[in-house]
Amino acid sequence: MIDYNANVRPAEMERITDFDKANAFIDAQVDAIRAQVGDKKVLLALSGGVDSSVVAALLIKAIGKQLVCVHVNHGLMRKNESEGVVELFKNGLDANLIYVDATDRFLDLLAGVSDPESKRKIIGKEFIEVFADEARKLEDVTYLAQGTIYPDILESIKAAEGKKAVKSHHNVGGLPEDLQFELVEPIKLLFKDEVRVVGEALGLPHGMVYRQPFPGPGLGVRCLGAITRDRLHALREADAILREEFDKNGLAGKVWQYFVVIPDIKSVGVRDESRYEGWPAIIRAVNTTDAMTATIEEIPYAILHTIVDRITHEVEGINRVLMDLTPKPVGTIEWE
Ligand code: XMP
Repeated sequence: MIDYNANVRPAEMERITDFDKANAFIDAQVDAIRAQVGDKKVLLALSGGVDSSVVAALLIKAIGKQLVCVHVNHGLMRKNESEGVVELFKNGLDANLIYVDATDRFLDLLAGVSDPESKRKIIGKEFIEVFADEARKLEDVTYLAQGTIYPDILESIKAAEGKKAVKSHHNVGGLPEDLQFELVEPIKLLFKDEVRVVGEALGLPHGMVYRQPFPGPGLGVRCLGAITRDRLHALREADAILREEFDKNGLAGKVWQYFVVIPDIKSVGVRDESRYEGWPAIIRAVNTTDAMTATIEEIPYAILHTIVDRITHEVEGINRVLMDLTPKPVGTIEWE
């Protein structure tokens, strides 16, 4: 029998490419999780990303309401994203889910902070604090589940060898000393494509399982410079329009990542025959296999025209739309 909880992927472990293999994995992990946690409670930070969602679905299948999911809305989520997580897990899967709207905590701390690394650090640190505050309110929690996947483990090995990262990527980092749990990491030997197959086999919606990557600091690194609520709102609306048009035109499955960025500059425009100062929305649409390098996806002009028209007419505060045609390298995928 394959030990899915080993620390290194066993040589005999076949790639999970279909539902049969996914179901065998799910059955083995359900047994392993039950054996590990018994009747104890398990805590999980559920962002709504693929990895934490698959872990949640797996644990719900194994231990039902012994799993306590905490969804922290840091105010930097995309349009309707937190609502979607609550709808799917609380209402659809009957999960034991705590929803925390921490928008004000994050945006107050970020006010006036323009340095990208400082923003990332504030968001990462506050995320842990909000999550820890919720964890302290709970009783009898013994375990912490995490959506660690195999590339994370390979990445840590690289980090341990002293290779420097370009940006301080944030997912759930270390918890404070007073909160020490044993870890449950049921997908830690899986690659991303395998996580998606397992997610679909668990019945998660296709759109969630194949959703494009979204950074931990969320729209915080796309609302460039010091975040303001009005510019963040404009970004969220513009991004929703871009995603809607990509969906409608069949680009969603073809382009790896596509989003809007808004810099902290204004230009002069005209609307209703009057001077109209506004921010530019910058569209970025890239393809990549591993996010280490990325190429620019060509988007048909007709679709771009519709997007420009909709964003400039429907979003308050935006008067221009630009397109970023820079591959990685030399640009990174995100702007901050
Ligand atoms: P960059 O900007 O470094 O991004 O070219 C590469 C990929 O990583 C995503 N990204 C993040 N993902 N936490 C994450 O989980 C983060 O802090 C983070 N920052 C960037 C980015 O969206 C792209 O897919």
